[in-house]
Amino acid sequence: MKVVSVVGARPQFIKLKPLDAALVQGGHEHTVVHTGQHYDAAMSQAFFEGLSLPDPAVNLEVGSRSHSQQVAQIMERLQPFISGLRPDWMLVYGDTNSTLAAALVGAQGQTKVAHVEAGLRSRNRAMPEELNRTLVDHASDLLLAPSELAMRNLEAEGLSGRSHLVGDVMVDLLADVLQHQERRQTLANLTASDYIVATIHRASNTDDPLTLDRLLRALGRLQIRVILVAHPRLRRAADLANLTLERGNVVSVPPLPYLDMVNLMRGSQGVVTDSGGLQKEAFLLSVPCTTLRAETEWPETLANRQNVLDPRGDRLAELACREASPLNDNPYGDGKASLRIVKLLETRTSDGGVTR
Ligand code: UD1
Repeated sequence: MKVVSVVGARPQFIKLKPLDAALVQGGHEHTVVHTGQHYDAAMSQAFFEGLSLPDPAVNLEVGSRSHSQQVAQIMERLQPFISGLRPDWMLVYGDTNSTLAAALVGAQGQTKVAHVEAGLRSRNRAMPEELNRTLVDHASDLLLAPSELAMRNLEAEGLSGRSHLVGDVMVDLLADVLQHQERRQTLANLTASDYIVATIHRASNTDDPLTLDRLLRALGRLQIRVILVAHPRLRRAADLANLTLERGNVVSVPPLPYLDMVNLMRGSQGVVTDSGGLQKEAFLLSVPCTTLRAETEWPETLANRQNVLDPRGDRLAELACREASPLNDNPYGDGKASLRIVKLLETRTSDGGVTR
């Protein structure tokens, strides 16, 4: 079976790892296309090297542009590559502009599309990611859902005929990392005493200077050390608005490789974030998470107050390093999602494909 994965942003490089391992184990031909949406070495190359990912066959080098330009340029550059390769399946991951552009190329008759992490909904149509993930689900042939709730979301939109509950591929990778990696001393000098980890990168939090200033102030008022892992978008927005990232106990560091980020979270008293992936990783690591958004596409994490929404950051002092009360059961699967996905692709290839 010939499979192409289209990736372009940091969370997709992470999800690619377990799928690549399962495809290689199954003896399949797996080609990786990098759209170039994320291009800084710390956001891209560090993940390919740190996770030993296969080198992309091509980099479409789309870079930073408006949403429309990003989607249009990826489509224009991807289409001839896919026509030449003629894969049995195209795998698209998550909810980024790269995901949407690739799904549209596939849906326009180029190849069958399977959406990894299908069925998530935040119910906030103003988020570009919400629009992307909804459109991608409707354009894809096979919907690979990480949880029961995601399955119910797909059913509510009339998509259950193409949907399968497989579990979450990020659980596969995290389980593997926790099993095989020794505890590394990430940022040893900064982590010698208690700390929390913070990230901010959503456009809704970074692009309005007043909102960003309010969140940075809230972090700066915390009594505990805050390690702020700064996405390039955050750094750029702060520079443009003339805002300082480092206030009070806040120390900012550049984006970290995956294994270092996992270790940093594991050793922390809490995570404060607006990232989807981090909310879930904190949940899986039993670290309390405070989410700087009004809604989440991972509502399962809210159980037992493992994750609490604090959109304006005004409850951070009380929430940031509260005690966690971890759940016994994991709604995101057993760490075998990627093997299930490969089995489904194999079955659907040999029985002639899918019906829309
Ligand atoms: C994208 C995804 C988001 C995902 C996130 C992970 C969309 C709509 N959003 O947002 O779902 O959670 O990636 O990081 O696709 N930049 C750099 N260097 C880089 C990458 C980005 O400087 O390597 C800067 C860009 O110049 C731009 C900003 O960061 O100013 C945003 O880049 P963009 O490509 O829109 O992605 P993210 O905001 O990271």
